[in-house]
Amino acid sequence: MSNTMWGGRFASGPGVVMEEINTSIDIDRHLYRQDIAASKAHAAMLAKQGIITADDARKITDGLDAILSEIEAGKFSFKRALEDIHMNVESRLAELIGDPAGRLHTARSRNDQVATDFRLWMREEIDRIDAALATFQRTLAEKALEHAGTVMPGLTHLQPAQPITFGHHLLAYVEMAARDRGRFADARRRLNESPLGACALAGTSFPVDRDATAQALGFDRPMANSLDAVSDRDFVMETLAAAAITAVHLSRLADEIVVWSSPLVGFIKLSDAFTTGSSIMPQKRNPDAAELVRAKSGRIIGALDAMLIVMKGLPLAYAKDLQEDKPGTMDALAALSLALAAMTGMIADLTPDAGRMKKAAGAGYAAATDLADWLVRTLGLPFRQAHRITGRIVAAAEQAGLPLHRMPLARLREIEPRIGEDVFSVLSVDRSVRSRTSFGGTAPKNVRAQARKWLRRLAAEKS
Ligand code: ARG
Repeated sequence: MSNTMWGGRFASGPGVVMEEINTSIDIDRHLYRQDIAASKAHAAMLAKQGIITADDARKITDGLDAILSEIEAGKFSFKRALEDIHMNVESRLAELIGDPAGRLHTARSRNDQVATDFRLWMREEIDRIDAALATFQRTLAEKALEHAGTVMPGLTHLQPAQPITFGHHLLAYVEMAARDRGRFADARRRLNESPLGACALAGTSFPVDRDATAQALGFDRPMANSLDAVSDRDFVMETLAAAAITAVHLSRLADEIVVWSSPLVGFIKLSDAFTTGSSIMPQKRNPDAAELVRAKSGRIIGALDAMLIVMKGLPLAYAKDLQEDKPGTMDALAALSLALAAMTGMIADLTPDAGRMKKAAGAGYAAATDLADWLVRTLGLPFRQAHRITGRIVAAAEQAGLPLHRMPLARLREIEPRIGEDVFSVLSVDRSVRSRTSFGGTAPKNVRAQARKWLRRLAAEKS
């Protein structure tokens, strides 16, 4: 069967493989709400401009509303032969209202239609992701407040570096999520222009009012260049870039959860809600959700790559390559939403083992920097010299098999005779974290203040 939407000069229908490669209805059916909303805005504008009659516009609008109900009730039969959502809707409209349906496509093209629909879809998706990121931040900040004083080892190179607080560690991810939200908001701001009325690529000779359709659909303004309007997919690339960076952040946290929850480390416990057992090893409690969050970042990054590669060779204006913008994007953003929900759930769920964390924080001479700082502060040594002396003390402690705070004062004085008893006051992990009060530092009182600031800010956002 030739496609009745464009079959005028085609004698026969496409070959089977042609239809298979060409159809996009399985994916773009998800745009039905946006497609119908954009068609209604277009029809109203056409009538207002006297391009179609008010009576036809009413029939079109009623027909579109009926189609919306059919789709939402699961009663709409999507036809692959009709390629995409635009032609499926229009063809059904013709069945429902007859001739006036044919007037809807005046002064528009599927090229500006699909660009409009996808922008509307993306805008909603960004708003959903932003809300999920806000919930994620709130959950992290609440946990951070609860654990503002819970000491753990801070690592560099996965080696114990300096003691930090668990709350401080969690708040690092709140900051990352804030930047993620900024990137999504930025993408949203730029995407919010209307391609509708650009038509196939060159605009139209009909007296359309693009400001009116833009406004009706909640866009800030119509896009200023018709070629750009139909061929631009920056909004897809930008949103996927924001999604990919977010996914990288989630993956890093997921990786930490995998490490922390391993019995080899034992810093946190996840409940049954976010772990699975093994069919053969009864003792196992696997952090599958965290592992899947880590893995899903691959699909999300992959979708960005795929989109960049689709775009890079495309001359202006529309090419069917652009139809490939949707499958990977929709998959990636669904994966991101799921990953965010899982990560938020895991953060709320996890319980740290404060005792184990604290013990590990004291291991590996993590207070060495505190000792060096003490030498600088108390004896007035240049930091480089203090670093050397501390290095010799750590070597001696290692040789004696003792942690720094157990080293006999006499032994310390063999290395630096001016060291006094009060040095021990900085060698405990609690003292160490409490002393890091510089702005952005790990001291529990800083963490408490930052967590509260975030919780206040997030609460204010909601109202
Ligand atoms: N299904 C198409 C897409 O997603 C709609 C636009 C088709 N335009 C065309 N000139 N064939 O891109």
